[in-house]
Amino acid sequence: YIGTFIQSPRDDPRKLDICEKGAIGVSADGVIEFFEREMESYDSLIAKYPAYEDAPVLTLAPKGQFFFPGFIDTHIHAPQYPNAGVFGSSTLLDWLNKYTFPRESSLSSLSTARTIYSRCVARTLSHGTTTAAYYATIHVPATNLLADICSSAGQRAFVGRVCMDHKEINPDYYRDESAEESLKNTCACIDHIKSIDPNYELVSPIITPRFAPSCTAEALEKLGKLAKETNLPCQTHISENRNEIQLVKKLFPEHDSYAEVYDAFGLLNPKMILGHAIHLSNKEMELIRSRDAKVSHCPASNSALTSGGARVRWLLDSGITVGLGTDVSGGYSPSMLEAVRSTALVSRHVAMTDGEECKLSVEEALYLGTRGGAKVVNLEDKIGGFEVGMEWDAQLIGLTVVENAENGKEEFEGDDVVDKIAFEGAKGAGPVDFFGWESWDDRVAKWVYNGDDRNTLSVWVKGRMVWSRM
Ligand code: GUN
Ligand code: FE
Repeated sequence: YIGTFIQSPRDDPRKLDICEKGAIGVSADGVIEFFEREMESYDSLIAKYPAYEDAPVLTLAPKGQFFFPGFIDTHIHAPQYPNAGVFGSSTLLDWLNKYTFPRESSLSSLSTARTIYSRCVARTLSHGTTTAAYYATIHVPATNLLADICSSAGQRAFVGRVCMDHKEINPDYYRDESAEESLKNTCACIDHIKSIDPNYELVSPIITPRFAPSCTAEALEKLGKLAKETNLPCQTHISENRNEIQLVKKLFPEHDSYAEVYDAFGLLNPKMILGHAIHLSNKEMELIRSRDAKVSHCPASNSALTSGGARVRWLLDSGITVGLGTDVSGGYSPSMLEAVRSTALVSRHVAMTDGEECKLSVEEALYLGTRGGAKVVNLEDKIGGFEVGMEWDAQLIGLTVVENAENGKEEFEGDDVVDKIAFEGAKGAGPVDFFGWESWDDRVAKWVYNGDDRNTLSVWVKGRMVWSRM
């Protein structure tokens, strides 16, 4: 791969690493074998790496194209994908009952599951999501199907069978009959994934108690034990909505806080991904940090369901690892670029009440969507950036460069201007116009604030091309 490579530096979220004359060599099994940052000529490159003499080469256009690490969606509900954008004026607890549980329960039909899951995986791939931590439903066959679809489409994924056994909280038509059933069906999904991907190279199970209110103490205890025995990743929700927090207080009066409920069952551990984490107390934050549990920030969802504005700067300054999630369909968009954008935007709303230092830059939001996400899923040595030894999980971003738009007036006057733009659009270029004066930092900022999947020309996971519109 030859061209411009842009990424977040591993240890500096406030910067972008821009390499204009780069060349990356990827082995047949998808591992980055070399990264030359100042390529002089193709011949000198091949002289240095003779094994690549016959390798296929992709060379990017110098101005309008760059490689960027694939996005890592650390929190997404695949069965809710058809509902994206449909939430009305609801808030979390009524939204669950009105929109979410009915939709999820429809995946008892495997053909419904197949339609929804294949669309969800195709759509997230087309938006550059190379890794996703999925919540599925309570259904074992449909959850196994989601793992199969990720595996065959080539998306790196964590697939979690959702556990929810509390009889008073969950509807009769959609819940586990008992804590035993939560455990047994979780194990059935683990066994299936082990049978299709024994070393969890692409697809891994993830232990998924939906959230504390939906589970009995018995189920949380069993799942906590399973997490300890298997060392598998875990995911759940925490402190998303004030009524939800009150419900946790009522259901678990013997524990002092929401975070302490999970901790009591061994579920606050370095492999736990906590969705939302909006209304945490200082003490809960300290506990989460001491256990090295991770946080998935879901800004679009937090705004759509009016859950609150998560204090991401505070979490980061406190030393907590944060990644981003779309949280479809609490979140209205399957696009991680939208999650990056709303991270920057929502941080500005938080800044209006809590202070300027709460603002997150484009660079920081992109870091959270790639390197941060990699840390959240404990794969920071494998994905999230371009380094020798890491895997080629990448997206090719294309920008429409409107050449001579200012200088070449004769060339593009009147209808010709329209033709020129229509022509660029037809080539698959995106919705953002670049006039030639922009630095790479400017181009990236314009991509983040105005771009969409039309800019995502091709996507690779572990060296395999999994999506292309070229
Ligand atoms: N809390 C429990 N279940 C859910 C869910 O499906 N989405 C969100 N955003 N929060 C939840
Ligand atoms: Fe969620």
